[in-house]
Amino acid sequence: MATLIGGICTSHIPAIGNAIARGLEDEPYWRPFFAGYPPVRKWLAETKPDVAVVIYNDHGLNFFLDNLPTFAIGAAPQYPNADEGWGLPTLAPYPGDPRLSWHIIESLVNDEFDVATCQEMRVDHAFTVPQALLWPGGARPVRTVPIAVNTVQHPLPSPARCYKLGQALGRAIASYPEDARVVAIATGGLSHQLDGERAGFINKQFDLMCLDKIVEDPQALTQYSIHDLVRLAGTQGVELIMWLVLRGAMTARVHQLHRHYHIPVSNTAAGLLLLENAA
Ligand code: DHB
Ligand code: FE
Repeated sequence: MATLIGGICTSHIPAIGNAIARGLEDEPYWRPFFAGYPPVRKWLAETKPDVAVVIYNDHGLNFFLDNLPTFAIGAAPQYPNADEGWGLPTLAPYPGDPRLSWHIIESLVNDEFDVATCQEMRVDHAFTVPQALLWPGGARPVRTVPIAVNTVQHPLPSPARCYKLGQALGRAIASYPEDARVVAIATGGLSHQLDGERAGFINKQFDLMCLDKIVEDPQALTQYSIHDLVRLAGTQGVELIMWLVLRGAMTARVHQLHRHYHIPVSNTAAGLLLLENAA
Protein backbone atom coordinates (compact mmCIF):
# COMPACT_ATOMS: atom_id res chain seq x y z
CA MET A 1 0.00 0.00 0.00
CA ALA A 2 1.21 3.49 -0.77
CA THR A 3 1.18 6.02 2.03
CA LEU A 4 1.30 9.78 1.77
CA ILE A 5 3.75 10.47 4.58
CA GLY A 6 3.77 14.24 4.30
CA GLY A 7 3.64 17.38 2.26
CA ILE A 8 6.16 20.14 1.62
CA CYS A 9 5.14 23.51 0.14
CA THR A 10 8.01 25.69 -1.05
CA SER A 11 8.82 28.62 -3.34
CA HIS A 12 10.82 27.85 -6.50
CA ILE A 13 12.54 31.14 -7.42
CA PRO A 14 15.32 30.58 -10.03
CA ALA A 15 17.72 32.86 -8.09
CA ILE A 16 17.73 30.18 -5.34
CA GLY A 17 19.12 27.69 -7.86
CA ASN A 18 21.81 30.20 -8.80
CA ALA A 19 22.69 30.80 -5.15
CA ILE A 20 23.06 27.03 -4.65
CA ALA A 21 25.16 26.62 -7.82
CA ARG A 22 27.47 29.45 -6.71
CA GLY A 23 27.68 28.37 -3.04
CA LEU A 24 26.14 31.57 -1.66
CA GLU A 25 23.93 29.98 1.03
CA ASP A 26 25.86 31.68 3.87
CA GLU A 27 25.96 35.16 2.31
CA PRO A 28 23.99 37.76 4.33
CA TYR A 29 21.35 38.09 1.60
CA TRP A 30 20.74 34.34 1.45
CA ARG A 31 21.31 33.05 4.99
CA PRO A 32 17.84 33.94 6.36
CA PHE A 33 16.19 32.19 3.43
CA PHE A 34 18.25 28.97 3.52
CA ALA A 35 17.89 28.87 7.33
CA GLY A 36 14.35 27.61 6.76
CA TYR A 37 15.37 24.33 5.12
CA PRO A 38 17.48 22.20 7.52
CA PRO A 39 14.42 20.96 9.52
CA VAL A 40 12.77 19.78 6.32
CA ARG A 41 15.96 18.05 5.12
CA LYS A 42 16.23 16.37 8.51
CA TRP A 43 12.62 15.18 8.28
CA LEU A 44 13.30 13.78 4.78
CA ALA A 45 16.45 12.02 6.01
CA GLU A 46 14.46 10.44 8.84
CA THR A 47 11.28 9.51 6.99
CA LYS A 48 13.02 8.40 3.75
CA PRO A 49 10.23 8.71 1.17
CA ASP A 50 10.55 6.52 -1.95
CA VAL A 51 8.65 8.80 -4.29
CA ALA A 52 7.92 12.52 -4.60
CA VAL A 53 4.75 13.66 -6.33
CA VAL A 54 5.76 17.16 -7.43
CA ILE A 55 2.96 19.63 -8.08
CA TYR A 56 4.44 22.58 -9.95
CA ASN A 57 3.80 24.99 -12.79
CA ASP A 58 5.75 24.85 -16.02
CA HIS A 59 6.85 28.36 -17.08
CA GLY A 60 7.16 27.74 -20.83
CA LEU A 61 9.87 25.07 -21.00
CA ASN A 62 7.79 21.97 -21.74
CA PHE A 63 4.47 23.61 -22.65
CA PHE A 64 3.94 26.81 -24.59
CA LEU A 65 1.00 28.88 -25.77
CA ASP A 66 0.41 26.55 -28.73
CA ASN A 67 -0.35 23.62 -26.42
CA LEU A 68 -1.12 24.25 -22.77
CA PRO A 69 -2.89 21.57 -20.77
CA THR A 70 -4.65 22.68 -17.57
CA PHE A 71 -3.34 19.63 -15.69
CA ALA A 72 -0.56 17.40 -17.08
CA ILE A 73 1.05 14.36 -15.47
CA GLY A 74 4.38 12.86 -16.33
CA ALA A 75 4.50 9.12 -17.01
CA ALA A 76 8.12 8.93 -18.12
CA PRO A 77 11.04 6.84 -16.87
CA GLN A 78 12.99 10.08 -16.40
CA TYR A 79 12.55 13.83 -16.67
CA PRO A 80 15.30 15.94 -18.24
CA ASN A 81 15.94 19.57 -17.37
CA ALA A 82 16.96 22.16 -19.99
CA ASP A 83 18.17 25.75 -20.19
CA GLU A 84 15.36 28.27 -19.65
CA GLY A 85 17.58 31.35 -19.87
CA TRP A 86 17.86 32.03 -16.11
CA GLY A 87 21.58 31.27 -16.11
CA LEU A 88 21.01 28.09 -14.12
CA PRO A 89 23.19 25.03 -14.74
CA THR A 90 21.29 22.33 -16.63
CA LEU A 91 20.83 19.47 -14.20
CA ALA A 92 20.90 15.70 -14.70
CA PRO A 93 17.54 13.99 -15.38
CA TYR A 94 15.26 13.03 -12.49
CA PRO A 95 14.11 9.41 -12.17
CA GLY A 96 10.42 8.76 -12.81
CA ASP A 97 8.02 6.10 -11.57
CA PRO A 98 5.87 5.21 -14.60
CA ARG A 99 3.85 2.57 -12.73
CA LEU A 100 2.74 5.00 -10.04
CA SER A 101 2.20 7.71 -12.68
CA TRP A 102 -0.15 5.50 -14.68
CA HIS A 103 -1.99 4.45 -11.54
CA ILE A 104 -2.53 8.13 -10.60
CA ILE A 105 -3.61 8.95 -14.16
CA GLU A 106 -6.13 6.07 -14.25
CA SER A 107 -7.48 6.99 -10.86
CA LEU A 108 -7.80 10.71 -11.70
CA VAL A 109 -9.53 10.07 -15.03
CA ASN A 110 -11.95 7.66 -13.30
CA ASP A 111 -12.48 10.45 -10.78
CA GLU A 112 -13.46 12.88 -13.62
CA PHE A 113 -10.13 14.73 -13.89
CA ASP A 114 -9.22 14.41 -17.56
CA VAL A 115 -5.51 15.09 -17.32
CA ALA A 116 -2.96 15.23 -20.13
CA THR A 117 -0.47 12.35 -19.99
CA CYS A 118 3.17 12.97 -20.87
CA GLN A 119 5.50 10.10 -21.69
CA GLU A 120 8.17 12.70 -22.32
CA MET A 121 8.40 15.82 -20.19
CA ARG A 122 11.09 18.38 -19.51
CA VAL A 123 11.04 19.89 -16.02
CA ASP A 124 11.83 23.55 -15.36
CA HIS A 125 13.09 25.53 -12.33
CA ALA A 126 9.76 25.06 -10.54
CA PHE A 127 10.59 21.34 -10.32
CA THR A 128 14.40 21.44 -10.08
CA VAL A 129 15.00 24.28 -7.58
CA PRO A 130 12.93 22.62 -4.81
CA GLN A 131 14.72 19.29 -5.45
CA ALA A 132 18.07 21.06 -5.01
CA LEU A 133 16.79 22.75 -1.83
CA LEU A 134 15.43 19.55 -0.29
CA TRP A 135 18.16 17.11 -1.39
CA PRO A 136 21.39 19.13 -1.65
CA GLY A 137 24.41 18.09 -3.67
CA GLY A 138 22.52 16.77 -6.67
CA ALA A 139 21.28 13.67 -4.85
CA ARG A 140 18.41 11.81 -6.53
CA PRO A 141 17.07 9.66 -3.65
CA VAL A 142 13.42 9.65 -4.75
CA ARG A 143 11.53 8.63 -7.86
CA THR A 144 9.29 11.44 -9.08
CA VAL A 145 5.83 11.98 -10.53
CA PRO A 146 5.52 15.52 -11.92
CA ILE A 147 2.07 17.13 -12.01
CA ALA A 148 2.06 20.41 -13.95
CA VAL A 149 -0.71 22.98 -13.42
CA ASN A 150 -1.28 25.74 -15.98
CA THR A 151 -0.44 29.21 -14.67
CA VAL A 152 0.71 30.57 -18.04
CA GLN A 153 -2.38 31.06 -20.20
CA HIS A 154 -5.76 32.09 -18.79
CA PRO A 155 -8.20 30.64 -17.96
CA LEU A 156 -6.31 29.03 -15.07
CA PRO A 157 -7.92 26.35 -12.89
CA SER A 158 -9.62 27.89 -9.85
CA PRO A 159 -8.37 27.38 -6.29
CA ALA A 160 -11.50 25.29 -5.65
CA ARG A 161 -10.78 23.07 -8.67
CA CYS A 162 -7.16 22.63 -7.61
CA TYR A 163 -8.21 21.63 -4.09
CA LYS A 164 -10.57 19.01 -5.57
CA LEU A 165 -7.78 17.73 -7.84
CA GLY A 166 -5.72 17.30 -4.69
CA GLN A 167 -8.50 15.32 -3.02
CA ALA A 168 -8.62 13.03 -6.06
CA LEU A 169 -4.82 12.77 -5.96
CA GLY A 170 -5.02 11.72 -2.31
CA ARG A 171 -7.49 8.96 -3.24
CA ALA A 172 -5.21 7.89 -6.10
CA ILE A 173 -2.16 7.55 -3.86
CA ALA A 174 -4.14 5.73 -1.15
CA SER A 175 -5.41 3.17 -3.69
CA TYR A 176 -1.96 2.27 -5.11
CA PRO A 177 -1.48 -1.42 -4.25
CA GLU A 178 2.33 -1.38 -4.18
CA ASP A 179 4.32 -0.37 -1.12
CA ALA A 180 5.58 3.18 -1.49
CA ARG A 181 6.23 6.01 0.92
CA VAL A 182 5.12 9.12 -0.93
CA VAL A 183 5.91 12.74 -0.15
CA ALA A 184 3.96 15.47 -1.94
CA ILE A 185 5.85 18.62 -2.88
CA ALA A 186 4.02 21.75 -4.04
CA THR A 187 6.11 24.55 -5.51
CA GLY A 188 5.49 28.23 -6.19
CA GLY A 189 4.29 31.34 -4.39
CA LEU A 190 3.88 33.08 -2.20
CA SER A 191 2.94 36.63 -3.30
CA HIS A 192 4.88 37.98 -6.27
CA GLN A 193 4.48 39.89 -9.49
CA LEU A 194 7.31 39.86 -12.00
CA ASP A 195 6.05 42.35 -14.58
CA GLY A 196 3.80 45.33 -15.23
CA GLU A 197 3.08 48.36 -13.06
CA ARG A 198 2.98 46.29 -9.86
CA ALA A 199 6.29 44.45 -10.48
CA GLY A 200 7.80 43.66 -7.09
CA PHE A 201 4.39 43.57 -5.38
CA ILE A 202 4.38 41.51 -2.17
CA ASN A 203 1.48 41.14 0.30
CA LYS A 204 2.85 39.87 3.61
CA GLN A 205 -0.47 40.03 5.42
CA PHE A 206 -2.16 37.92 2.75
CA ASP A 207 0.74 35.44 2.67
CA LEU A 208 0.66 34.90 6.43
CA MET A 209 -3.10 34.39 6.28
CA CYS A 210 -2.61 31.83 3.47
CA LEU A 211 0.01 29.94 5.51
CA ASP A 212 -2.45 29.72 8.41
CA LYS A 213 -5.35 28.69 6.19
CA ILE A 214 -3.39 26.08 4.22
CA VAL A 215 -2.73 24.35 7.52
CA GLU A 216 -6.00 24.86 9.38
CA ASP A 217 -8.76 25.77 6.96
CA PRO A 218 -7.86 25.24 3.29
CA GLN A 219 -11.53 25.43 2.30
CA ALA A 220 -11.38 29.14 3.13
CA LEU A 221 -8.86 29.67 0.32
CA THR A 222 -11.11 27.90 -2.20
CA GLN A 223 -13.50 30.87 -1.95
CA TYR A 224 -11.04 33.03 -3.94
CA SER A 225 -11.17 33.29 -7.72
CA ILE A 226 -7.98 33.35 -9.77
CA HIS A 227 -8.54 37.08 -10.29
CA ASP A 228 -8.85 37.58 -6.52
CA LEU A 229 -5.46 35.88 -6.18
CA VAL A 230 -3.93 38.08 -8.89
CA ARG A 231 -5.22 41.18 -7.07
CA LEU A 232 -4.20 40.03 -3.59
CA ALA A 233 -0.98 38.10 -4.30
CA GLY A 234 0.23 39.42 -7.68
CA THR A 235 0.07 37.90 -11.16
CA GLN A 236 2.52 35.13 -10.23
CA GLY A 237 1.12 34.83 -6.70
CA VAL A 238 -1.51 32.60 -8.30
CA GLU A 239 1.10 29.86 -7.80
CA LEU A 240 -0.65 29.34 -4.48
CA ILE A 241 -2.95 26.97 -6.38
CA MET A 242 -0.20 24.31 -6.32
CA TRP A 243 -0.28 24.45 -2.51
CA LEU A 244 -4.03 23.87 -2.64
CA VAL A 245 -3.56 20.73 -4.75
CA LEU A 246 -1.15 19.40 -2.16
CA ARG A 247 -3.41 20.30 0.75
CA GLY A 248 -6.36 18.56 -0.91
CA ALA A 249 -4.32 15.36 -1.09
CA MET A 250 -3.76 15.36 2.67
CA THR A 251 -6.10 14.47 5.53
CA ALA A 252 -8.71 17.00 6.70
CA ARG A 253 -6.56 17.78 9.74
CA VAL A 254 -2.79 18.00 9.41
CA HIS A 255 0.11 18.62 11.75
CA GLN A 256 2.36 21.52 10.85
CA LEU A 257 5.91 20.35 11.62
CA HIS A 258 7.69 23.41 10.27
CA ARG A 259 6.99 26.82 8.77
CA HIS A 260 9.25 29.52 7.35
CA TYR A 261 8.56 32.86 5.65
CA HIS A 262 11.14 35.29 4.29
CA ILE A 263 10.80 38.42 2.11
CA PRO A 264 11.97 39.07 -0.42
CA VAL A 265 13.94 36.55 -2.43
CA SER A 266 14.36 38.20 -5.82
CA ASN A 267 10.82 39.54 -6.39
CA THR A 268 9.05 36.93 -4.34
CA ALA A 269 7.81 36.18 -0.83
CA ALA A 270 9.40 32.82 -0.02
CA GLY A 271 7.21 30.46 1.98
CA LEU A 272 7.84 26.97 3.32
CA LEU A 273 5.56 24.49 5.07
CA LEU A 274 6.14 20.90 6.22
CA LEU A 275 2.93 19.03 6.99
CA GLU A 276 2.11 15.53 8.17
CA ASN A 277 -1.23 13.82 7.86
CA ALA A 278 -3.13 13.62 11.13
CA ALA A 279 -4.24 10.09 11.93
C1 DHB B 1 10.82 34.56 -9.74
C2 DHB B 1 9.79 33.86 -9.07
C3 DHB B 1 9.16 32.79 -9.72
O1 DHB B 1 8.14 32.07 -9.16
C4 DHB B 1 9.56 32.39 -10.99
O2 DHB B 1 8.95 31.33 -11.54
C5 DHB B 1 10.57 33.09 -11.64
C6 DHB B 1 11.21 34.17 -11.01
C7 DHB B 1 11.53 35.72 -9.08
O3 DHB B 1 11.09 36.22 -8.03
O4 DHB B 1 12.59 36.11 -9.58
FE1 FE C 1 7.23 30.69 -10.68
